[in-house]
Amino acid sequence: MTGEHAEVAAGLEGVVVAATRLSRVDGEAGELLIAGYPVDEIAGRVTFEQMTHLLLEDRVPNEQEASQLREQLAAVRELPEITKTVVDQAAADGVAPMDALRMAVGTLPVRDDAQQQAREIIAKIPTAIARHWRRQQGQEPVEVRTDLSHAASFLWMLTGEEPSSAKERGLETYLNTVIDHGFNASTFTARVITSTGSDLVSAIVGAIGALKGPLHGGAPGPALDMVFEIGQIERAEAFLREKLDRGERLMGFGHRVYKVRDPRAEVLSQAAHKLFEGDGDRAIFELAQGVEKKAVELLEEYKPGRRLQTNVEFYTALLLHGLDLPVALFTPVFALSRCVGWLAHSFEQHAEGRLIRPKAHYAGAVGRKL
Ligand code: ACO
Repeated sequence: MTGEHAEVAAGLEGVVVAATRLSRVDGEAGELLIAGYPVDEIAGRVTFEQMTHLLLEDRVPNEQEASQLREQLAAVRELPEITKTVVDQAAADGVAPMDALRMAVGTLPVRDDAQQQAREIIAKIPTAIARHWRRQQGQEPVEVRTDLSHAASFLWMLTGEEPSSAKERGLETYLNTVIDHGFNASTFTARVITSTGSDLVSAIVGAIGALKGPLHGGAPGPALDMVFEIGQIERAEAFLREKLDRGERLMGFGHRVYKVRDPRAEVLSQAAHKLFEGDGDRAIFELAQGVEKKAVELLEEYKPGRRLQTNVEFYTALLLHGLDLPVALFTPVFALSRCVGWLAHSFEQHAEGRLIRPKAHYAGAVGRKL
């Protein structure tokens, strides 16, 4: 693989670069295992703290361990002064939420104790997102509370209201579902940084930068916009046909890896169903289900054999909307969960201890002279 005949594995598709115990994505079967558990088995049934413990320690904690982790996270939820200053200035300058989050995490002190460092990063990310959002809305930050769960505390810091248990559960299910997903770009970024012997703060800052890209962190917003634009199920077919006739893509459908329905879409659709049954807008949920059915049908007609199915973004959008989260916070909330996967991967990478250093095929000029 040298010289003129080198084959370039562009995008590293199919290239195996590490072994991991954290998650396994099977795109043909439509299965996602998180630390050995099928996502639909675990995501709706454990707290985010339990899920965090599972990824970091490879074991669902017992009650005492789970409440210990909950307390440890709550105890370090407050932001350092330097982080508050940066977040407040970012809000005043109109910095977008993902950029503000990257700046905020970049201010966190680097610790010798990696476990403590991981807890600080996990605990402070929601506080930074909420503070920045409230400042941008011209509101005072809400005081940090230590008596709420990680998920409930985020909704509290955002709104100043204690969330219903249905909302807390809905958010936890989302966070648990997207906590890790194979060797995606941000995870790989975190592992590359860790492999150099750098610190966890740097790894997470880099991963946030990778997640921000529209090809990765995605834009569940457009999927939601499409459902709103359709408005009534009777209009769905004509609307979707028009889009497909124009050669446009239907947002929330298709996936590079999954060739059947993304298993996360199933978990999130059930969570959205529960949420909307309780205190949400049922009509929008039913409309979304109708749009999904019609879209999958039409995609098979327009792109036969492509196996374009509903992806995670479609029901993410619906669920997060049901939680009253603004579209601008969808990707930061994704980071709020995924940071646990990034940290767990960084620990794995550290244990492996091998610098990630691939090669490039040189395709430039040779023998130039001045
Ligand atoms: N709507 C209409 N047509 C589609 C869609 C879609 N959502 N997705 C793929 N296609 C078509 C393409 O136009 C192409 O058709 P062609 O061969 O006739 O030109 C064919 O299906 C294959 O498309 P690719 O781009 O090769 O598929 P790829 O696997 O690279 O794309 C992707 C995956 C980017 C997610 C794509 O399906 C897409 O753009 N979907 C819409 C955007 C979206 O929902 N993004 C969130 C993804 S979820 C996540 O990343 C976490």
